[in-house]
Amino acid sequence: MVALSWFFYDVMNNPSVEEDILYEIARRKRIQISSFDSPLREMEAAAAAAENAKPVIRIAAICGSLRKASFNRGLIRAAIAICEEFITDMKIDYIDVEGLPFYNMDLEEDGSFPWPVEEFRKKIREADGVLFASPEYNYSVSPLLKNAIDWGSRPPNAWADKGAAIVSAGGSSAGARMQYHLRQIGVFLDLHFINKPELIIPAFQPPQKFDRNGDLIDLEMKERLKKLLLSLHAFVLRLC
Ligand SMILES: Cc1cc2nc3c(=O)[nH]c(=O)nc-3n(C[C@H](O)[C@H](O)[C@H](O)COP(=O)(O)O)c2cc1C
Repeated sequence: MVALSWFFYDVMNNPSVEEDILYEIARRKRIQISSFDSPLREMEAAAAAAENAKPVIRIAAICGSLRKASFNRGLIRAAIAICEEFITDMKIDYIDVEGLPFYNMDLEEDGSFPWPVEEFRKKIREADGVLFASPEYNYSVSPLLKNAIDWGSRPPNAWADKGAAIVSAGGSSAGARMQYHLRQIGVFLDLHFINKPELIIPAFQPPQKFDRNGDLIDLEMKERLKKLLLSLHAFVLRLC
């Protein structure tokens, strides 16, 4: 409480500090504030509330499949449900990447991007971490996922310094090769992936793992997904 009060006191009395830097500090400290123009008393109240409130980790979840009954989107739905029930201080936001145009440098103008790309990049920037759920296409990441990654990577790189985890469900390799390609891509993006546990689900092998809507119905896989999310939760907290 004392430390945060002084933080806000400094903010109010230091006009030389850039506002966007202050917002970034507040974001990292998970302090919800609408404006730094508010009176000091209001800020102190916000600081006190932030100290008492349990901080919420925000995870942006991206699916690499457009298929209506996608198993991988089903994994994201299962992850959202697991967090709501068991990991209440981590919230997963599903980020729809279907509306992003196919990457083309001609669509960039003096560092600005088409509207859906700006929206997408903002959501990634604001997240504390990322959950990728994607099928493997021909031994690698799907074009949908790569397109989203490429848009996010344009300067300033929206992925930089975030914790991340990958889950996959699919055919013969169940996405294992895609996962290792994605980790390789993450080196340049400056993404930090958890190493363990891995979750690579052979969707077409018995017992049945998903229902016809793509919802995860296998209890063992749900338990493994929960362990992966707990690992991501701990890792993101260490990075913040
Ligand atoms: C173009 C294409 C390429 C694929 N390549 C692979 C592959 O290399 N390895 C694999 O395990 N599955 C492969 N699959 C099978 C997908 O992993 C499987 O269809 C998966 O269920 C798709 O994910 P979704 O249910 O989220 O749509 C491929 C599927 C398509 C359509």
